Amino acid sequence: MSDTKRPDGIIIALDGPAGSGKSSTAKAVARCLGYRHLDSGAFYRAITYAALHAGIQPDGWAQLTHDELDRMDVHGKPGETGYTMTVAGEDVSLQIRTPEVNAHVSRMAAVPAVREWLMDALRESGARGGLVADGRDIGTVVFPDAELKAYLIADAEERARRRLLEMGVTGLSAEDVRAEAARLQGRDALDSGRETAPLRQADDAVVIDTTSLTFDEQVERIVALARERGGVDRSEEIP
Ligand code: DC
Repeated sequence: MSDTKRPDGIIIALDGPAGSGKSSTAKAVARCLGYRHLDSGAFYRAITYAALHAGIQPDGWAQLTHDELDRMDVHGKPGETGYTMTVAGEDVSLQIRTPEVNAHVSRMAAVPAVREWLMDALRESGARGGLVADGRDIGTVVFPDAELKAYLIADAEERARRRLLEMGVTGLSAEDVRAEAARLQGRDALDSGRETAPLRQADDAVVIDTTSLTFDEQVERIVALARERGGVDRSEEIP
């Protein structure tokens, strides 16, 4: 059924502005197809953790060399449904989600040498295909030859509403939603205007406006597009 040249299936690249739900969508699409979810943010988080753990001060991150990055021994180990991040062979899945890493990761992600180094690691992880990858510049820079690129958008107020619900805020007022929407729009402007890896839709991306779609509907739409583009359903192969 697949006409892809990759042994494990096509590559699907998902991107979109803050709060577009790209990560949870990528995970669900991967589950439907029996593909792996490649969360590129987790790689940036693992490097951030490794640098902090090694006592390399954030002020020095802009000067990190490829050799130093190699020595940090950061890898994404492929599993059934995704990648387990390891540093020096140790599973750091929990350590990369701490407030300390949250607070420092965007600084690491803004270092061009780090992005360059990581591009090879991400491409290597995705070499066999059968992958749903999400994150900034995933369709424009990391996997420009992905068989399917989807760019998720939604009205700022809808993104704000979803984000607040996700954060567990109850009894949302219109004022809460407007304030969060303003924050998201501010972040969109910063993300689009920044020099390193700006938020940009790939020219050949399918834009999916999820404002009035349910989560299941947006997942189904991407799965349908993936099948049209030669995505093999491998879900039966997973025990
Ligand atoms: O999606 P996340 O919160 O795990 O991402 C962590 C950080 O890495 C965040 O600052 C965005 C950045 N990032 C990036 O610059 N490029 C990617 N492909 C993925 C994440």
